[in-house]
Amino acid sequence: MCGIIGITGRDDAVDGVVNGLRRLEYRGYDSAGAVINDGRELRVVKRAGKLGELVKALGDTPLSASTALGHTRWATHGAPNDRNAHPHLDPSGRVAVVHNGIIENYQELRASLGDGVRFASDTDSEVVAHLVADELDRTQDADLFTAVRTVLARLKGAYSLCFVAVDDPTTLVVAKYEAPLIVAHADGVGYCASDVAALIEHTTEVAALLDGQVARISPDGIEVTDVDGASVEPHRYTVDWDLSAAEKQGYDHFMLKEIHEQPQAVADTLLDRLNAPAPGQPARLTLDELRIDEGEFGRIDKVFILACGTSLHAGMVGKLAIEHWAGIPVDVEVASEFRYRDPIVDPHTLVIAISQSGETIDTIAAASHARDQRAPVIAISNVVGSTLAREADGVLYTHAGPEVAVASTKAFTTQIVACLLLGLYLAQARGRLYTSEVSDTLGRLEQIPAALEQVLELDGQIRELAERYKDVDYTMFIGRHAGLPIAMEGALKLKEISYLHAEAFPAGEMKHGPIALIEDGSLVVALAPAGHVFPKMVSNIQEVRARGASVLAIGTEGSTEELKAHADDVLTLPEPPHELAGPVLSVVPLQLFSYHVATARGEDVDQPRNLAKTVTVE
Ligand code: G6P
Repeated sequence: MCGIIGITGRDDAVDGVVNGLRRLEYRGYDSAGAVINDGRELRVVKRAGKLGELVKALGDTPLSASTALGHTRWATHGAPNDRNAHPHLDPSGRVAVVHNGIIENYQELRASLGDGVRFASDTDSEVVAHLVADELDRTQDADLFTAVRTVLARLKGAYSLCFVAVDDPTTLVVAKYEAPLIVAHADGVGYCASDVAALIEHTTEVAALLDGQVARISPDGIEVTDVDGASVEPHRYTVDWDLSAAEKQGYDHFMLKEIHEQPQAVADTLLDRLNAPAPGQPARLTLDELRIDEGEFGRIDKVFILACGTSLHAGMVGKLAIEHWAGIPVDVEVASEFRYRDPIVDPHTLVIAISQSGETIDTIAAASHARDQRAPVIAISNVVGSTLAREADGVLYTHAGPEVAVASTKAFTTQIVACLLLGLYLAQARGRLYTSEVSDTLGRLEQIPAALEQVLELDGQIRELAERYKDVDYTMFIGRHAGLPIAMEGALKLKEISYLHAEAFPAGEMKHGPIALIEDGSLVVALAPAGHVFPKMVSNIQEVRARGASVLAIGTEGSTEELKAHADDVLTLPEPPHELAGPVLSVVPLQLFSYHVATARGEDVDQPRNLAKTVTVE
């Protein structure tokens, strides 16, 4: 989704903005632009396509000033071309704006300006620059900060907005409503950005604006108010990511680096989870932040897990863990569906919202829908201080570090681990497991990182398979029990980055329709670890093979001998330290397979077409 970076107070503000945009590229975008304010005029350069196009254009038109603002756009209203790229100016060139989100009443606002007004773009955003410029014209002594606040009262929708005005050359004015916006001030320079990735090279002390807050940023500092102008406090915090974590460090792609970071990310997520409530007391599993009484979990009679995309698949493993250990019925639901129906939610329903970014609008809205009905909400998020984490009653952080590739990998495996921890935590809180059983199970989970290292050694073998299967027309992923979420994640990964047609089905459902798609040349990827569903998986493998499919089976040490008799190719994983930890291991070969297929096909692995990393629109 769109990215914003603004800088004021540095001679090389334009270079800083271009660097910031580079760090935001991972969000997914289709055009980029920048404006500089040199106190005489606002100069805008913007181009459709990748950031390189903007950099080339900036080279042709060198811009220098101490205040600059940049944007990467992921098109919603209007095609991804030069004129719809941000920033947008008012007709007199006095005010420029960049915008993330959607202004829902933009047509009404455009009409309110009268028939004679010409718009230079098809976007919903441009009208906001017109309105602010009109407000500045109307009230002679108004400054940009005041004019923006007045205009905000007229906007409907979601936004993070950033403005510059030619009359005020050292000021950025920003506003936030339902789309994230971070501000910071360090060494006499003011910054704003849509996420911390763009700021960590400058400072780790940041503040997230809350909904309805507006800020004036200058080299002297930051002033934050509500829309009425009353002084308010944003959410201040320290980012614990270092810059090197957000760089490729010798890997060809962020995705590959992040796949290889999984042993460490899982170890970090498991670290220091046991704490003794008092000296001499047995250590208990704890959450990172809990703003409700632990006793409340004893009264929970139903759980909803809400998430989108890859996070949803982690939630499906979470369901198995919570039902198994805590004995509570769990529904897993796509967040964008949950919020628009009438789910039966009450104070005895626990909602678990999973979001790597903590900024996915559908997940945030679904969680707040549940909170309105007084259900406690626990967030699983990778981003400290994210909107979801702030709004929830409890938080379990995944410690994956920054995930840059659009296709989620290490965030996913750490989300599964967090779900396992939450399952154990609920079992402990409800007295379903003794504290010693919880710590024993935790001890087994601590063996996952070493097992992951072993799985990563399969990389060479997987690359060869990818070469062989890279042009296959249709791939079906099948699995049962803990293999099903991984089949779904495997299909999602393959389609996301290689654009091949891939789908996933519960292996037992295949006979009720999907098997009709199988023909010579199809590929079936079967999740077939040793365990109680293994014999059923073997039957399903035989069924697809009999109809002409090639079968790539993902087995474990205890299942591969038998698999070799039925599948064309078999990858052997170590036995997981617990059956419910199996998905953390079995997804890794599928991540590597997708990665190698996509690179063999020459696709842009880290920034696949049409996709965004953080989806802040509905
Ligand atoms: C986008 C990303 C996916 C991610 C999903 C949910 O679609 O491309 O990788 O799984 O959003 O994101 P979240 O930050 O809420 O986990």
